[in-house]
Amino acid sequence: MTAPRLAEVTRDNVSAACDLSVAPHQQGYVAPVDRSLAEACTQPDVAWPRLVYAGDNLVGFVMAAFDPGCPIDYFRCGIWLAIAAEHQKKGYGKFAVEAVLAEARRRGAESATVLWAPGEHSPEPFYLRLGFQPTGQLHEGEVVARIRL
Ligand SMILES: CC(C)(COP(=O)(O)OP(=O)(O)OC[C@H]1O[C@@H](n2cnc3c(N)ncnc32)[C@H](O)[C@@H]1OP(=O)(O)O)[C@@H](O)C(=O)NCCC(=O)NCCS
Repeated sequence: MTAPRLAEVTRDNVSAACDLSVAPHQQGYVAPVDRSLAEACTQPDVAWPRLVYAGDNLVGFVMAAFDPGCPIDYFRCGIWLAIAAEHQKKGYGKFAVEAVLAEARRRGAESATVLWAPGEHSPEPFYLRLGFQPTGQLHEGEVVARIRL
């Protein structure tokens, strides 16, 4: 694994970011990057979108929503993630989640949450491996899972 780093989305890299794609069988499990970035634009004080680079290669996209006052507790510190198909299984997803968790701790969050759709190609094993635990709740059919910080 080339040492990964996070970078902000800029005029220079936004087009490449929107071209990031997961494998075809994974596409039902995560929103396209351009949709996530559009949503981020509507909540600039909440959304924390970042690109994952390995050296000069753009390998993924991660976004947190830091919204400590949200009435739905599992949206107070949420995570979205996509690692490009050709760069998966190299540790970049784990790096990205851990980087978000570090930022969440820095902001004083007590926990972070993810939502995943169940199914054959679900990211569930990945998140369980990182220590997220299902809360027993479902949000629009998706499993809500939390990790204490
Ligand atoms: C889920 C996803 C982000 C994982 O990213 P990744 O870079 O391949 O994961 P990593 O290489 O960092 O894996 C970290 C650990 O999880 C394990 N893991 C990753 N994907 C796994 C899977 N599908 N099944 C079982 N274990 C998995 C790895 O083996 C590794 O284990 P280790 O610590 O023992 O070595 C990536 O597959 C992806 O982008 N999927 C499509 C989009 C998606 O589902 N996003 C999440 C939406 S909520």
